[in-house]
Amino acid sequence: MTLRSVIRGTGHYLPERVVENSWFEERLDTSDEWIRTRTGIERRHFAAEGQATSDMGLRAARAALDKAGLKPDDIDGIVLATSTPDFTFPASATMIQHGLGMTHGFAYDVQAVCAGFVFALANADAMIRGGMARRVLVIGSETFSRIMDWSDRGTCVLFGDGAGAVVLEGQNGDGTAGDRGILASDLNSDGQYRDLLYVDGGVGTTGTAGQLRMQGNLVFRHAVEKLAKTAHVALDKAGLTPAQVDWLVPHQANARIITATAQKMGLPMDKVVLTVADHGNTSAASIPLALSVADSQGRFREGDVIVTEAIGGGLSWGSVVLRW
Ligand code: UT7
Repeated sequence: MTLRSVIRGTGHYLPERVVENSWFEERLDTSDEWIRTRTGIERRHFAAEGQATSDMGLRAARAALDKAGLKPDDIDGIVLATSTPDFTFPASATMIQHGLGMTHGFAYDVQAVCAGFVFALANADAMIRGGMARRVLVIGSETFSRIMDWSDRGTCVLFGDGAGAVVLEGQNGDGTAGDRGILASDLNSDGQYRDLLYVDGGVGTTGTAGQLRMQGNLVFRHAVEKLAKTAHVALDKAGLTPAQVDWLVPHQANARIITATAQKMGLPMDKVVLTVADHGNTSAASIPLALSVADSQGRFREGDVIVTEAIGGGLSWGSVVLRW
């Protein structure tokens, strides 16, 4: 018998305010046409004033619990992937825990920027398989609108706010690639590239939150090179091949990166979940948002092989392979 972490439920939350590309046309030297053709983004959601990462994460968590038919009492811990926490500390996960009325279990944040959800999922899976928890809420929630430089057309048109969550539950499998649940993960970081995508402030340096800075074209090149590779490594570990993949649920940064990765994996685009047009890049929230949207549309069937992959600041990148 082998313990596997199975997704019992998914949920998401998107703030009410939707901002179309035309909003930027009125403020910057940019165009709807440039944004659409270079990124695939058409609109994004921005959090309301006073609406924080934990508020959105809480709503996504509640939705995932509802979908799973579970209550906060059934959960042993919360792992929140975010780079835009409500406060420097405590972890925003504790605010979600409190919002759910939980006084038991653990709650902490994982910070791996856009790769955060993949890192959090692998982390929660390791805790479940290690016997430290049976059910873990894994959440990605971000308010990147708070760290934008609104005069930088190279970044501010790309990002959006939102949250997604999954309930992971330990279930017995037989140790083969036919098991449901997480089958393999591959995580990587390389700090020599930290200047390609970073925030120019922080508690230990400027004492301010700072704003996002990115050398987009260089990140793009790393993404195209590293994402298909990490997916292949994770599939290999799982004992599966790209031909056995039913769905690619990638980090939603740029439709061109997603298409290039699918091509390298030999996957047709009808096997790719694409939400970038409506959400923009929501960093650590993008994969759980895409999972939840596709799940709510009934696109996944039990037994489907799903590959998630992401890259972000650090650089950090990785992939998780699971069977639905
Ligand atoms: O999620 C974390 C990981 N992040 C990513 O994966 C993002 C990766 N990078 C990208 O998605 C792309 O590099 C961008 C979408 C950010 C940029 O696309 P690009 O095709 O790499 O464009 P570029 O940065 O090479 O810029 C090409 C041109 C430049 O003008 P010149 O120098 O050729 O005259 C830019 O100034 O496009 C210009 N440009 C814009 N023009 C209109 C940059 N941003 C804009 C804009 N509107 N918003």
